[in-house]
Parts: sequence; C-alpha cells; structure tokens
Amino acid sequence: MKVDVILGLQWGDEGKGKIVDVLSPAYDIIARFQGGPNAGHTLEFNNIKHVLHNIPSGIFRKNTLNVVGNGVVLDPVIFVKEIQKLEEMGIDPTKNLVISRKAHLILPSHRTLDAASEHSKGKTKIGSTLKGIGPTYMDKTGRNGIRVGDIESNLDAKYKALVEKHKKLLSLYDFKYNFEEEEKAWFEAIEKIKTFPFVDAEHLINKALKDNKPVLAEGAQGTMLDIDFGSYPYVTSSNTICAGTCTGLGVAPSKIGEVLGIFKAYCTRVGSGPFPTELLDDTGEFIRKEGNEFGATTGRPRRCGWIDIVALKYAIMLNGVTQLVMTKADVLDKFDKIYAATAYKRNNEIFYEFPYHLDDNIEAVYTEIKGWKTDLTKIRTKEEFPENLSAYIKFLEKELEVPVKFVSVGPDREQIIRL
Ligand code: GDP
Ligand code: IMO
Ligand code: MG
Repeated sequence: MKVDVILGLQWGDEGKGKIVDVLSPAYDIIARFQGGPNAGHTLEFNNIKHVLHNIPSGIFRKNTLNVVGNGVVLDPVIFVKEIQKLEEMGIDPTKNLVISRKAHLILPSHRTLDAASEHSKGKTKIGSTLKGIGPTYMDKTGRNGIRVGDIESNLDAKYKALVEKHKKLLSLYDFKYNFEEEEKAWFEAIEKIKTFPFVDAEHLINKALKDNKPVLAEGAQGTMLDIDFGSYPYVTSSNTICAGTCTGLGVAPSKIGEVLGIFKAYCTRVGSGPFPTELLDDTGEFIRKEGNEFGATTGRPRRCGWIDIVALKYAIMLNGVTQLVMTKADVLDKFDKIYAATAYKRNNEIFYEFPYHLDDNIEAVYTEIKGWKTDLTKIRTKEEFPENLSAYIKFLEKELEVPVKFVSVGPDREQIIRL
C-alpha cells in the first residue's frame, strides 16, 4: 500500500476538512503531517458544523485511526479544548487518536514571540494566526524545541530552559507580555494529553502500509503558503507541499500514492501578501458573502478573487497532483460570467510561469467563462450538471492537465459529486 495525500493548492481553506471527512471511510488511518492550530478544518454533517485545528479530520469516523504526525506543532491547550468539544458531542477521541513522540510542542512563550514579532513588523506583518507556529518551527530547526516525547522525561527542566531563552529574545522587542497565567493551563493540558497514546508514528504508518491498510495524509494550509515555494515571506513555517508528507510522517517518496489537490472554484487568502487575482470591489464582497469567507481559526474576513490558473499549475507541478477536487462551485451560482487568470502581465509582457517575486506590477490576464446560473447545492450526479459547469470543468482539465475527480457543491458531507 501507498499513502494517498490530500492537500490545498491555493492559500489554504480550500475545504480540506470536508473532503477528508468524505473520503475517510475508505481509509484506516488519517494522518496530519504539518502545521498546527493555525489550521481550521470545517466538517458539516447531520446539521452539525465542527472546526478542527490540531486533530485530523477522520476523528468522527469510529473505525479510523487519527495520527498527529511528527511534522505537526501541537498546542496542548488548544488540543485539550478540541478534545472537550468532541467529548461534549459524545465522541471518545482516546479510542482513535494517537500522537507522534516527535511532534513539537507550542509553548505559551512561542505564542508571545509570534505576537511580538508581528507587532515589530508593523505594516509588513505576515498576518499570522498568532498561534506560535513560526517560533515553534524556529526552535525545531534551531534544535531547541520540546517534543511530545519529552513529556515522558524531564519536561519541567526543559520547559524552564526554553522559556528562559524566550525571555531573552523577548527583551529585544518593545513588547509588553505576561504569559505566566497561561502556563498553568498549559501544564494542566499536558496532564490531559498524557491520556492519549504517544507513538513512533513512522513505524506505525509503515507497518500499516505493509499490512495493506490504506492511509490518507491530510495537509494543512495550502501550497502557496509553503515555506519554500509559497509567496515568501508571507507564508507559514512548514512544507505544505506533498514532500512534507515524507518528512512529516516518515514515509519514503516511493510510498506516495494518489495526490489529491483541492482548489476552490475561485480563490481566497487570509493575512497579508500578494494575491494577483484579488477583487477589491463589490464582486469580491459578493463572493465573501455567498461563500461565507471568514477564517475558521481567527474569524478574519478572507480576501476573495478569481481562480488563478498560473498559480494552480505551479502548485500541481510541485505536488505531482494526480486528481483534482473542486470545492465551492455553488458559490458562483449567480454569476453571468466568471473569470480565470490564465497568464500574468508585467510591463506589457505576458508570461505563464509563476515568478520568483509577485510584485505590485504584476497583473492577471483573464479568460472569460460563462456562468451556469443554476442552484448546484442539490445536485448529486454529474448528469444533472448544467452545461456551463461541465464546460468550466473541461476548461480547467485542459489547462491543468489533471482530471477533476470530485466536485463539492456545499459544506455538507452529502454535497459531493464523484466524477
Ligand atoms: P480547510 O481549512 O481547507 O479545511 O477549509 P475551511 O474549513 O477553513 O474553509 C472551507 C469553508 O467552506 C468551510 O466553512 C466549509 O464548511 C465550507 N465548504 C467546504 N466545501 C464547500 C462547498 O463545496 N460549498 C460551500 N458553499 N461551502 C463549502
Ligand atoms: P488551513 O489548514 C488559511 C496564513 C495566515 C498568515 C500565514 C502565516 O485552515 O487551510 P501562521 O499562523 O502560520 O504564522 O500564518 O498563513 N494561514 C492560513 N491561511 N488557512 C490556513 O490553514 C492557514 N494557516 C495559516 O493567515 O497569512
Ligand atoms: Mg481552514
């Protein structure tokens, strides 16, 4: 068996949580391989709406084992809050959730450092979710981090040493802070985390593959937020691309199977940074309203724009996408015409390759597409598709050279069409 991977091709929030939930009955294991509580993955079923941050989106399926991989950064306080919410819904996550010993812990002082760094940047701030993601990955690569496995040995001393270091760093900023109150909650959360199995997830997953058990890796954020290939520095601090699965779970590149790339029928972004197809007008506002485009983690309004084929082609190349999933097609139901950026223009020169630097001089060049003017939300088969939706899908498949295998037409688990 190989690991199938599902990941975002845009700037996050493509609907990964929903699609993982839809696909999870076909898998024995769902594993998160990077990111942390900056993620907000929404699932809707039986009139319940649920947002997950640290926990993989297979948690509602009793027979699915959910793995928090080594590439993840885990905030114990947020994790425990998520657990409590699940318990209130009658779910017992201790039965099907395990955590890699090699996952790194987010400390209260990491969150403070995140806030201090953003504050010091002023107008050039990243627009971070302020969950401490950047500082925690910095400590990981700087070889100062604390891992879940450290909970089993000498945690207090390691915690104290790291916080001392953080206090020295914080003295470099003109930033008032007090994280002492949060420390109590952090240590209480550590006690609760201990009730979950800590595992060597790389062994667990490779053994599952050997035993022919299907595994699905769930990405967080999106390709355009990747630390290496995203719109740096306006990115997150992990590898969100398919390669992150290998380092974030301990699976070899030869063990990667299908790569499912998710994109919205349009495009959104939260936080700062370039966005060539952004609509700063009434149309953008209309999409935000129709698509309920507000952050699942921070509640911030998401920036909205047309689909960007140049960026999507780049994302497909980086990830080796084998199947496409298009979400939120229904959000465009009312448009007479929609648009897709099929090239970029700088100083009257047209180009098609995603560039090193997305500066303000870059303009999107659009192809006009006929709208379908049909309510898609109740459609459940391909045969019911309005002609112009089928034409849009055909156009995308021709441009992107990968088949669209799923079309999502609403937030609910049932609102999905397999092609
Ligand atoms: P994720 O981070 O990729 O899991 O995506 P989010 O949960 O942050 O954002 C996606 C939002 O769109 C959530 O509110 C979903 O419930 C919702 N959603 C997912 N698929 C669809 C769809 O096909 N149509 C509509 N209208 N909403 C969708
Ligand atoms: P999911 O998994 C959308 C964005 C933030 C900010 C930048 C860096 O729900 O798709 P960070 O907190 O990582 O330091 O923020 O990345 N960002 C996301 N945007 N969806 C996400 O996750 C995101 N996680 C981080 O808004 O611009
Ligand atoms: Mg999200």
